[in-house]
Amino acid sequence: RDPHGMLDLVLKFPAQCREAANITWHYGVGASEAVEIRRIVVTGLGGSAIGGDFLRCLADEYGPIPVLVNRDYHLPHWVNRNTLVIAASYSGNTEETLQAIRDASRAEAQIAVVTSGGKLADIAKQASYAYALVPGGQPPRSATGYMFFPQLTYLAHRSLLRHQFEHDIEETLSILESLAKRLGPDVPTDQNPAKQLARALYGKIPVIYGSQGYRGVVAYRWKSQFNENTKIAAFSNVLPEQNHNEILAWVQAQKQAPNWAVIFLRDPNERFENPRIVRRVEVTTELIRRVAPVYEVLAEGESLLARLFSLVYIADFVSVYLAYLYGVCPTDISYIDYLKAELA
Ligand code: PA5
Repeated sequence: RDPHGMLDLVLKFPAQCREAANITWHYGVGASEAVEIRRIVVTGLGGSAIGGDFLRCLADEYGPIPVLVNRDYHLPHWVNRNTLVIAASYSGNTEETLQAIRDASRAEAQIAVVTSGGKLADIAKQASYAYALVPGGQPPRSATGYMFFPQLTYLAHRSLLRHQFEHDIEETLSILESLAKRLGPDVPTDQNPAKQLARALYGKIPVIYGSQGYRGVVAYRWKSQFNENTKIAAFSNVLPEQNHNEILAWVQAQKQAPNWAVIFLRDPNERFENPRIVRRVEVTTELIRRVAPVYEVLAEGESLLARLFSLVYIADFVSVYLAYLYGVCPTDISYIDYLKAELA
């Protein structure tokens, strides 16, 4: 039922998050607490970058310092000694991230590192950067808890967010534990919405829509989980921007490929946050339903952290169930490995 062990990792995700929220930071001299931080850049790729996306969402909500996520070799030229650069690489060997930390050092930025080891850990120790060493040995995209929570605790330690997260973390963990019970492999399909959605998506190309803000980030996470775990093409976009261009694609979508399926990521608070977005989702759904099935997935919880992680966690289950329906290995990343080897 779980020949590649990925479901087991998914089931252990709540425990991973709990452990990650308590991971010890080694505070070096590379991030001096006396220097004022005016901007934060999280630099990383793939499964390691997504933790930076989550941090950006929280910073947008709880400011006051803007967070940029850099998925590239080089950092923006405005990075300077008042910038905190968090280098996040699960393996610690991703060449783009290693290059970016060199940029950060050259710019005399303050540097913090989250990794399970590799060259990045060596650099952090040698240069006496602040670093958090997380447990290694699993696919980076299944280690999002390890890659995200230390970033949050580091920012909290340096008082860079105007919010106390203790209660939010507890709420998030209890929702994740509850989802694990409701969506786990032992729950039969007729009572398991994640298995039902995976079945509905079989043979289809998922298009995931969120709305601007955290659901845009999570829509992208759903897309990349389908890419990496399920090995299928998937696309994501956000409202309201989608309503100004991509909405027109649905006029002819079926002529290009007949098997689209749309997932809307919804939020229990959206009615209060922005009723215009709710109306946009309703009208967009009505238009798309003329040509393709539309499914909705609802976030759970009150805090932003819990709502964000609940949607992320549901994607883990759906993408792995769908991988097993296709008979593919969710942990396999042979094409990524091939690329890295070709570039070595
Ligand atoms: O999930 C994956 O396996 C990838 O997206 C990796 O995260 C990506 O290749 C970057 O590697 P790392 O996370 O080790 O820096």
